[in-house]
Amino acid sequence: MTVTELTLPPMQPAQPLYRMLADHYLGAIRSGVLMPGERMPSVRTLMRTHGVSLSTALQVCRHLEAEGWLEARERSGYFVRQPRRALLAPVKEPEVATPDPAAYVGVHARVSAIVARGQQANARVDLSGASGAPALYPSAALNRITTQVLRRHPFLLTQAVTPNGHPELQIAVARRALDMGMQIAPDEVVVTHGCIEAVNLALRAVAQPGDTVAVESPTYYGLLQVLESLGMRAVEIPTSPRTGMSLEALEMAVQAYDNIRAVVVVPNLQNPLGSIMPDAAKRRMAAFCEQHNIALIEDDTYSPLADSNTPLKALKAWDRTGNVIYCASLSKTVAPGLRLGWMTAGRWQERVQMLKFAQSRPNDSLLQVVAGRFVASGAYDRHIRTLRQTLREQRERMAESIAECFPAGTRLSVPSGGLAMWVELPTNVSSVALFDAALKHSIRIAPGTMFSNLNRFDHFFRICFGLEPSANLEAALATLGELTRQLTEA
Ligand SMILES: Cc1ncc(COP(=O)(O)O)c(C=O)c1O
Repeated sequence: MTVTELTLPPMQPAQPLYRMLADHYLGAIRSGVLMPGERMPSVRTLMRTHGVSLSTALQVCRHLEAEGWLEARERSGYFVRQPRRALLAPVKEPEVATPDPAAYVGVHARVSAIVARGQQANARVDLSGASGAPALYPSAALNRITTQVLRRHPFLLTQAVTPNGHPELQIAVARRALDMGMQIAPDEVVVTHGCIEAVNLALRAVAQPGDTVAVESPTYYGLLQVLESLGMRAVEIPTSPRTGMSLEALEMAVQAYDNIRAVVVVPNLQNPLGSIMPDAAKRRMAAFCEQHNIALIEDDTYSPLADSNTPLKALKAWDRTGNVIYCASLSKTVAPGLRLGWMTAGRWQERVQMLKFAQSRPNDSLLQVVAGRFVASGAYDRHIRTLRQTLREQRERMAESIAECFPAGTRLSVPSGGLAMWVELPTNVSSVALFDAALKHSIRIAPGTMFSNLNRFDHFFRICFGLEPSANLEAALATLGELTRQLTEA
């Protein structure tokens, strides 16, 4: 069956008119066309300019007011408000210096202890993950496609699976990759069990136990666990909350230590910082690694969740020699429960295919076909647009609450997309102490110590904005703020 034969889920209604107009004015506020303190065009002006009814014009202003962008002044109309979150300074930039020598990663005990303590406490409000609430993902559409696929292909579960990946998913993701500046043939796609298997295979393809791998600092703790399990050493490269891994520091590390075999980098919406490398830095990093014969592993788990309407470019777009192994995921964008990721491995393609076959054999066909059909459809575009918008609103709301509830000295870098934020606590507050105190109130956060093998991030924590807004969530943020205040005074 071709993709077009499939009955796609009914069109979701377009965004309501008031939301489109509200977004239009939000863009003006964000870009500084409308500055804090300035008057928003009056309700009458909105009606005249956009040809909308009084109730739509009022909805625009009320929506922006509810989101914290406007304030109503009696008899004068709506004015652009100074967002509370603007009162928080961004997380400090790291010092760019020669990184500490590579060390065998020893995060297992620390991460496992934190995960175990968190699970024991059975948190009511879990802010420790980097995922959206289940309701944010397209379960109805995926369920419908699953039923259709099984009806039309009754032997799908009993047939052997195709090696490397199912063509429907390979074609669908290769098409989407075009938007990010990559040209990949479908048979160059290897489907994996999430991005984490892709990163695992990539590391095994390019490095041996005992080898050194450069990683961002702080970095996703899952990567540190993989390095530890493979007996590889990590050298942590200072990473900016705005622009990602410092190329200068990477150059210093390569000069100081001549045994760096690979770099693992998350150029778009890094976890936990949310940073995005500028395109020029992506190009320079691709060229630098190629020149020094260092394999570059790109983890692109989050980029469809960026605010920008223009898709972000993959670092792989600047790969001229097959030196970049590109790894991606559907876990954050389509459905966490699919456990689907994919990769294309440049000059290590054959080795990765062999390793995947040896390690876990191909993924099952059913979920690949279901995901492939969804990703190829217009329903995917609509879903991603809605997801991005919802996450953006939840992020703004959470950033505002943090600004309101946390004590002076707290810093926050609000990312331009993704699922989580990195909070810097006043320097005398330990995030592990906050984690323990929060668990007593059934609230779970991810303390900064999980994200590095060095002891530099104890006064940071990561917080997820994927949860739907609720009174419980607001109360949890107020509690976290209050606990932090108590810890600053302890
Ligand atoms: C940077 C990064 N890479 C990989 C993963 C794992 O992705 P998956 O669930 O697709 O295995 C995550 C999950 O949080 C992540 O943040």
